[in-house]
Amino acid sequence: MPFRRLGRSGLRVPLFSLGGWLTYGGTVNGDPCKEIIKTAFENGINMFDTAEVYEKGKSELEMGRVLKELGYRRSDLVISTKIYWGPRGGPNDSGLSRKHIIEGTKESLVRLQMDYVDVIFAHRPDNSVPIEETVRAFNYVIEQGWAFYWGTSEWSAREIEEAWSVANRLGLIGPIAEQCQHHMLHRERPEKEYAALYRNYGISTTTWSSLASGLLTGKYNDGIPAGSRFDKNKDFFKTTLESLTKEEGLAKIAKVKDITVIANELGVSTAALALAWVAKSPNTGTVILGATSPEQVLENLKAIEVLPKLTPEILERIEKVLGNKPEPIATFSRPALDNDARW
Ligand SMILES: NC(=O)c1ccc[n+]([C@@H]2O[C@H](COP(=O)([O-])OP(=O)(O)OC[C@H]3O[C@@H](n4cnc5c(N)ncnc54)[C@H](OP(=O)(O)O)[C@@H]3O)[C@@H](O)[C@H]2O)c1
Repeated sequence: MPFRRLGRSGLRVPLFSLGGWLTYGGTVNGDPCKEIIKTAFENGINMFDTAEVYEKGKSELEMGRVLKELGYRRSDLVISTKIYWGPRGGPNDSGLSRKHIIEGTKESLVRLQMDYVDVIFAHRPDNSVPIEETVRAFNYVIEQGWAFYWGTSEWSAREIEEAWSVANRLGLIGPIAEQCQHHMLHRERPEKEYAALYRNYGISTTTWSSLASGLLTGKYNDGIPAGSRFDKNKDFFKTTLESLTKEEGLAKIAKVKDITVIANELGVSTAALALAWVAKSPNTGTVILGATSPEQVLENLKAIEVLPKLTPEILERIEKVLGNKPEPIATFSRPALDNDARW
């Protein structure tokens, strides 16, 4: 398993980690959940991601229980959770107030049966709270030893800049990572909007839904298979399911089919190619996998072997199929930098 630093911090995270959204504590419980997490750990995945909101706290409960029963040494694990939507509905049970950040973190730790998480993320921005309150509260959480680092999730570049500016002014710790959606069909924000953040603050991403909930495996090319995520969560994915029968969705399926042609030529699965493509970005800290079986974990980890196959020629062919590369940032006639330069 390759490891990368998360942001400019000293924390090393595996290039592929595993998350529990919609699965652990939801559709996957008990021994099957244990088998998946065990398979992941035995194959180099030592980072696990969850959130207070996942299955109203049941994801943290289930993942915490399994990790405890498996008896792994806490220092061998990297655990992240996310605070924003508390499992209850009171006026102070959500958002990024000092009250909810502190109370939410304490309750997450109880559910996880852990003394601390490694990284705590603000699951969304909360524009109803002064940013100084939020930055101070995450620093308090760190000072208490309940988390070592903090990050953001789906914040705009402006919001992250603001957090850093407050942190720098007050001599506090700023967010080291942004947990954002990044995959072949969703690129603008991680590849363009955040460009200055990578350069100025060294932020890295912990990417989510890098298979677009399974779309990039090709499993939805000919309809919705029984028992799949889109089948089991029809209400949640209503808009996505509707779009798959229209021009926009059909265009996505057509791209997946063309990506499969390249994957077949390379002798790899479409899923492994799609995941390796996200991991290839130097700004990616970890690609958070989702899996409902040990087999999916093993299949998806083959992405590591795909990485060296992503030559400039193959990447160019993938670009041609996708046709969605974000426009480069305007340079106003200054010559472009070397393609391999990180920033
Ligand atoms: N910060 C945020 O706002 C946010 C949002 C979403 C997710 N996340 C995090 O990111 C993690 C990953 O997101 P995700 O679960 O959406 O990732 P994903 O990789 O896009 O989707 C995972 C799902 O695709 C299917 N799948 C995976 N590998 C497959 C394979 N090889 N063949 C066939 N089907 C396969 C499985 O569902 P089925 O078998 O049920 O079809 C699996 O549960 C989450 O668990 C969570 O930790 C964060």
